[in-house]
Amino acid sequence: MSRDVITIRRPDDWHVHLRDGDMLAGVLPYTSRVFARAIVMPNLSPPVTHVAAAVAYRERILAALPAGPNFTPLMTAYLTDATDPGEIARGYENGAWVAAKLYPANATTNSAHGVTDIRKIDAVLARMTEIGMPLLMHGEVTDPTVDVFDREAVFLERVLAPLMVRLPSLRIVLEHVTTRAAVKFVEDAGPNLAATITAHHLIINRNALFQGGLRPHLYCLPVAKREEDRQALRRAATSGGAKFFLGTDSAPHPVKDKECDCGCAGIFSAPNALEVYARVFDEENALDKLEAFASVNGAHFYRMPVNRETTTLVRREQDVPREVAMVRPFLAGEKLGWRIA
Ligand code: DOR
Ligand code: ZN
Repeated sequence: MSRDVITIRRPDDWHVHLRDGDMLAGVLPYTSRVFARAIVMPNLSPPVTHVAAAVAYRERILAALPAGPNFTPLMTAYLTDATDPGEIARGYENGAWVAAKLYPANATTNSAHGVTDIRKIDAVLARMTEIGMPLLMHGEVTDPTVDVFDREAVFLERVLAPLMVRLPSLRIVLEHVTTRAAVKFVEDAGPNLAATITAHHLIINRNALFQGGLRPHLYCLPVAKREEDRQALRRAATSGGAKFFLGTDSAPHPVKDKECDCGCAGIFSAPNALEVYARVFDEENALDKLEAFASVNGAHFYRMPVNRETTTLVRREQDVPREVAMVRPFLAGEKLGWRIA
């Protein structure tokens, strides 16, 4: 199906980093003008480990919201070895947060307080299973002997598969999948396992990180993989299948923290993510599946209503700015063939 205009239910972003302070104020408008709801990652410094911290962070987000369409931040808890199951359940039951995020310790940005061994949070996960609270996973092992490009695939084997045997009713989102192996794993599993897919992993493979030189603004975690992996992600996202949905993982870092000796991981896609997804679905001849991926599947998995408002995208060129809020956006300086009407 090729067309020049498409109207879908207003989308949600089921995985975003909004940060805090000045950065929050700078980046939030790009998410809130497009997405009706967003699952907000808790990897602040210090991380959002307690109900009171999630409530306070949500207030800061609401205070930073510009005038414009409605936007609801959906908060998450950051799991640590010391997380108390009672605290997690209390926050879920009183609506302070809707899910808990597992960062394997030291897997990525601000994950030093993450979980060192998943068996240390058995009691938390058992409680989450009982109350139906979703677990969101950064699916990479941190074992330094495992090649960085294999860390997601090894995580499936060593961590996720055994967890699903121990707790088959736990509802899990495998975040930002990057491999063909992960796509197959999710497809083969039952309905309690779903996955988010970023816009950037649909566009770049690992060659892009070295195209003509080192490209720090294309470095994120999990790092982009092979072309065959990118193709598998494209097939999954555009399949319309209920287990895959939109999660940008937009993760802004100031330019100076990306372009330095030890650059941070994270791609800032919020300013144009929906248009990038539209481009991919258009290229895959699957614009009719964009609404399921962007606006329906995630809501169903999270057991929330779909949005009533609509968003229209038109085939019209736009330039991606070089810099937004002191951050280099994804595809900076390039042209995009779609824009939001
Ligand atoms: O690239 C990434 N950036 N991956 C993550 O898991 C975290 C994120 C961040 O917070 O910067
Ligand atoms: Zn993330």
